[in-house]
Amino acid sequence: MQTLTVELGDRAYPIHIGPGLLDRADLVLPHLIQKRAVIVTNTTVGPLYLERFSQTLKNAGMQVDSVVLPDGEAYKNWETLNLIFDALLTQRAERKTTLIALGGGVIGDLTGFAAASYQRGMPFIQIPTTLLAQVDSSVGGKTGINHPLGKNMIGAFYQPQLVLADTETLNTLPARELSAGLAEVIKYGLIRDLPFLEWLEANMEALMARDTTALTYAIRRSCENKAEVVAADERESGQRALLNLGHTFGHAIETGMGYGNWLHGEGVSAGTMLAADLSRRMGLISTADVERIAALFHRAGLPVVAPDLGYDAYMDYMGVDKKVEAGRIRFVLFKQLGEAFVSGPGTPNDYDPDALRATLTEAVSKS
Ligand code: NAD
Ligand code: GLY
Repeated sequence: MQTLTVELGDRAYPIHIGPGLLDRADLVLPHLIQKRAVIVTNTTVGPLYLERFSQTLKNAGMQVDSVVLPDGEAYKNWETLNLIFDALLTQRAERKTTLIALGGGVIGDLTGFAAASYQRGMPFIQIPTTLLAQVDSSVGGKTGINHPLGKNMIGAFYQPQLVLADTETLNTLPARELSAGLAEVIKYGLIRDLPFLEWLEANMEALMARDTTALTYAIRRSCENKAEVVAADERESGQRALLNLGHTFGHAIETGMGYGNWLHGEGVSAGTMLAADLSRRMGLISTADVERIAALFHRAGLPVVAPDLGYDAYMDYMGVDKKVEAGRIRFVLFKQLGEAFVSGPGTPNDYDPDALRATLTEAVSKS
C-alpha cells in the first residue's frame, strides 16, 4: 500500500492506494467520530463490492447501513441526491455518522454533496472504484450535481476524511471506463508534468493491459499532482483551474450530447484536442505537438474528434461554465506540452475569438 497526504492543515487527509483495501477496517476506523456509517453506492457497484465492504466494517464492530442508487451520469441530479437524504433520515443518521461513497465519480460527487449538506455537514469518506475516481474525482473536495443547462453547476467544496483506492476493484471495470480514466491521467502530464507525459507515452500499452505496477504508478503520480494543486489552491482561485484542461469543451459535449452518452473522460479527451487545436491556431504549440497529444489519447482508446454540435450550441453550453468571468469564457490553453495556462479577460492571455470559431467549425467531425 502507498499513502499520500492532501496537505490542507487541520483538514489534511490521507489517500491510500493498493490492492485489497476493501478488507482493511483498520484504515477506516481512525477517521470516524462514531462507529457508524452509511454507504452510498449504485446498482452496478453494489452487487460487486457492497456486501464485502459492509462486512469488513461490521466485523470491526460498526453499525452499517446503505443506500443503492440508480447507475449513470443521467442520475447525478436533485432527484437522486434526495434519495440519499431520504435514506439518511429514514435510518436516523446523525451528524457524526460517516457517509461513505463506494463507486465512481458520480457516486463520489453525489455523496460528497449530500455529506456537505445533511445536517449542514457530516464526515465522509471516498472509496473510489473507477480509474477516473481514483486519479481525480475522489481527491480535492469538489462535490455536486448536474443541471440540465450545465454540468456540475450545483455543488460545494467539501473535503473527505480519507480516500481509499483499492486497485483490485479496477479488475471489474469495463474497458471503456478504463480509457475514460486515462483521459484524466494524461491531463496531469499535459498541464504540469512532462516527465509523467513521457512515462505515459512509454507505458500506455501496459496501462491498457491493466498491468498492476503501471496502473499503481499512474494512480500515485496522478494523485500526487492533484494533491499538490489542491493544497496550493483548494477553492480554485488560480492554478486549480488548470485541472480543467479540455473540460470547457468537454462539459459542452457531455451536456450537448445528453448526460451519459459521452463519458466524462471521453469529453475531456475530445475537448483537450479542441483546446490543443485552439492553442495551435493561436501560435502557442505546433502541429506536431497536436499530433503527439492525439496519438496518446488514441492509444488510450479515447476519441480525438469532437462531435459537431454547431458553433452556436458550443458557445451556449460553454457560456455556462464555472470559469466564466465578466461574461467571458476562460479556456485552459497550452504554453507548451507539460505546461498550461488559463486564458483571462483583458490580459494578453485572452483567447482569440476567430481562432475559436475556426476550431469549433473545422476541428469537429462533419457527420
Ligand atoms: P461513473 O461514476 O459513472 O462510473 C462509471 C461506470 O462504472 C458506472 O456505470 C459505474 O457504476 C461503473 N463502475 C464503477 N466502479 C466499477 C467497478 N469497479 N467495476 C465495474 N463497474 C464499475 O463515472 P466516473 O468516470 O467514475 O466519474 C465521472 C464523474 O466524475 C462525472 O460526473 C464527472 O463530472 C465527475 N468528476 C468529478 C471530479 C471532481 O473533482 N469531483 C473530477 C473529475 C470527474
Ligand atoms: N477535476 C477538477 C478539479 O478537481 O479541480
